[in-house]
Parts: sequence; structure tokens; C-alpha cells
Amino acid sequence: PARLAVLVSGSGSNLQALIDALESQQLPGAQIVLVVSNKADAYGLQRALKHRLPALYLPWKQRAQSEQQLVALLRLFEVDLIVLAGWMRIFSAEFIEQFPRRIINLHPALIPDDGSGATFTSSDGSIIPVFRGMHAARQALEAGVKITGSTVHYVTPEVDAGPMLCRQEVPILTGDTEDKLQERIKQVEHSLIVEAVQLWMRTA
Ligand code: GAR
Repeated sequence: PARLAVLVSGSGSNLQALIDALESQQLPGAQIVLVVSNKADAYGLQRALKHRLPALYLPWKQRAQSEQQLVALLRLFEVDLIVLAGWMRIFSAEFIEQFPRRIINLHPALIPDDGSGATFTSSDGSIIPVFRGMHAARQALEAGVKITGSTVHYVTPEVDAGPMLCRQEVPILTGDTEDKLQERIKQVEHSLIVEAVQLWMRTA
């Protein structure tokens, strides 16, 4: 069994995908025991409350203090897996090292298998830069690549550079804007995040 904490900072459509998968028995043995947002007005918190899930706003003004509070919460709720689903804060190495292979992150770009490296070879053989950090869809558009995607990877102290669990490519279309591309990436992510939890449960 896997007790999940889902961490969000925004709309929480990927949290919703997990809730829907749980409610339709696509994640047998899993359960969301806690939803945390660093933003008080994140719509993800509303989604959690609608489904009667414990949902908390945890301010993130001083990272060390907030991380301590988060660790206490994760222990209290006996969390097995921490899912970063649109979580926009970077954790300290000290935090991450307390949960080895127990934090996974959804990132809206393609990341290599081992997580490291500056380039990624896509299925059509093209070599594309790895877009890490914020605004990955915008970075892909600005770089003029034809393919981007999304990756779920283990979180390690190096940002967006941990080993991948699963990923999917998304083609960039003519006329794409950042919003349109980000939206198409999200459509793919809604099944990718579920697949990632299934994979994690098989390997855990
Ligand atoms: C997702 O596209 C996710 O990949 C991205 O934020 C979006 C959250 O959407 N995450 C990052 O950029 C992390 N650096 P959601 O709130 O609707 O699930």
C-alpha cells in the first residue's frame, strides 16, 4: 500500500488526475492522505477539500522552517510517497535526503533516463536541450525545438536532474503559444502522473 502526499502550488489539475484515478480504481492500494500547498489560494486545495482529503496551506517564507514543518506532517500522516504535482519550490538537499526515492516530480520537459546531461535524444533522433527549472514550455518554444514533453523523475538535490520513471513526448505545432503548449503538455501529464505512481508502487 502507498500513502501519498501530493504537493501543489497552483491549479492542481494533476492532483485531480490522481484523485480521478483513485476513484476509478486505477491505483489499487494507493491513497492520498495529505495535500499541501505553499499558496493559500491554490485551486488544488479546493479540489482536495471537495474530495474530503486533508488539505493544508503551508507558508514558505523561510525554507528551513517550512521544511521542518513539512517533515513533521509527512511523518504524522505516515506518508510513503511524496508527489510534486505543480510544486514550485526547491527543496534543500537535507530535506530530500530524508526521503530517498520517495519524492517524485512532474516536470513539463524531457529529461534523460539518468536525469543528468544537457541534451536529450527524442524518438525521431533529434537532439534537444534539456529544459530545467521554471517555464520549461516557454524555454522549448524559445529554443525552436520541434518536440518537447513531460517527465516524472525522482527528486535528487540537483534540480530536475534525478532518474526518470516515465516520460512522454509532445510535438510542438506551428502557431503554438506558451499557453497552448503548456495546456497540451498537461493533457499528457494527466495520464503520465498516474502511470508514474503505478510504476513507483511496483518498484517500491
Ligand atoms: C504541470 O504542467 C507541471 O508539469 C508543472 O506545473 C504544471 C502544474 O499544473 N510543473 C513545473 O513546472 C515544476 N517546475 P497543475 O497545477 O494543473 O497540475
